[in-house]
Amino acid sequence: MTKDLLTPVLARIDAGLEQSVERLVDVLRIPSISTDPKFDPDVHRAAAWMADQLTGIGFDAAVRPAKKHPMVVGHMKGPEGTPHILYYGHYDVQPADPYELWDSDPFEPVIVEAERGKRIVARGAVDDKGQVMTFIEAFRAWMEVHGSLPISVTVLLEGEEESGSESLEPFLSANKDELSADACVVCDTGMWAVDKPAITYMLRGIVSVEVKIKGPSRDLHSGMYGGGVINPINLLSRILGDFHDETGRIRIGGFYDDVLPVGDNELKQWAGLGFDEKAFLSEVGLEVPGGEQGFTALERIWARPTLDVNGITGGYQDPGGKTVIASEASAKITCRLVPDQDPDKIIAGLKAFVTERLPKGYSLEIVHEGGFPALRVPTESDYLKAAVAGLRDEYETEPVLIGCGGSIPAAGSIRNLLGMDSLLVGFGLEDDRVHSPNEKFEMVCFHRGIRSNAAIMARLAELAG
Ligand code: BES
Ligand code: ZN
Repeated sequence: MTKDLLTPVLARIDAGLEQSVERLVDVLRIPSISTDPKFDPDVHRAAAWMADQLTGIGFDAAVRPAKKHPMVVGHMKGPEGTPHILYYGHYDVQPADPYELWDSDPFEPVIVEAERGKRIVARGAVDDKGQVMTFIEAFRAWMEVHGSLPISVTVLLEGEEESGSESLEPFLSANKDELSADACVVCDTGMWAVDKPAITYMLRGIVSVEVKIKGPSRDLHSGMYGGGVINPINLLSRILGDFHDETGRIRIGGFYDDVLPVGDNELKQWAGLGFDEKAFLSEVGLEVPGGEQGFTALERIWARPTLDVNGITGGYQDPGGKTVIASEASAKITCRLVPDQDPDKIIAGLKAFVTERLPKGYSLEIVHEGGFPALRVPTESDYLKAAVAGLRDEYETEPVLIGCGGSIPAAGSIRNLLGMDSLLVGFGLEDDRVHSPNEKFEMVCFHRGIRSNAAIMARLAELAG
């Protein structure tokens, strides 16, 4: 019966694609960069834009203040007895720099023709505005055709996902009853390939710290003091280089103590996916892999922990040279975590590792820290089966279960505070340049993402008991 309801919705989605794209372009113009306070007004503008869309479709929706950036929450009741699903996504984006590496303005979206047809290029195209719009546009089409949704829906859109989700847990706790549902659909991940849909069942956790090493009481003339003092930038570089041994293993004490090995069955299933490591590397201009020796590429990306330096600062960085020994040096570091690593233990280990290597008179300041553990989602629930069925309806092939090297803190927080598991259904592709210049979303992924969300709703509606 729900199939009969779905068919005209799909026709409506196809007919309205151009308008859907126009709306996506509209929101992509807003530089809602959550990490940089300079963009706070834009972050608010993007929240208001999202709330307006939901209200326009018929949701009871509003921008809701939170500790830092606001949340957008909307509700729409479906028929009595149908499942109630929380849809999660984020309207904030990563910074767009380096701007000079973009072929077009990151906040002036362009539609270009490429190998897979049209694509939309802009910061946030796939992460995550384009993906948020796949479910909003599915709701819109369903409302336009039937005047109601086939299930009860609550939407929660966050504005801090790309910058640590500081406000999320307090907001979830304060609005627990309002946000509780039967399951959560998170639309912020990827497919296996353009014609192979996927559900993500593992996310890595993350810890972020900025370590600042302070040495001499002021910047020094590098001729007068060079050879006489320990240079903080040299020292920091040595410590950063020390983090990994020659096999790629991280040398922080206790770092691997809680890491759970991957089971043989799971390894076999991953091997069956036929990951092409050579293609993965060559797409970014590389030939030689990194990471820990002795593990397959998918293990290293999905199920092994990492430590990466994301930025180094210190000394003179303006044009020309300056003969100076800077008094301090700092590095922003993230570790990706896997089950069962504890973020606090990892941060403590990292601090100890740096502290042990500081000479007398040199100090460590931690400028920022925070973290989330890794997450595994149960793969047996009826809700997950409905999502699989919806994807199968759209793509006419069996969806695969995959891991993800990235992190979506909300999925764990929703599990812990609202008691709901997430269905991580996403439409991004490996080469979408997430967090990089020229981020893009394939039109075919946007279009079929909207259709998939409609099909998944139809399948979820069949669970009505
Ligand atoms: N959408 C990404 C997560 C992701 C990345 C899924 C790649 C699938 C493929 C998400 O928005 C993200 O980037 N999260 C941050 C979280 C961090 C800032 C706490 C991440 O993983 O770096
Ligand atoms: Zn995202």
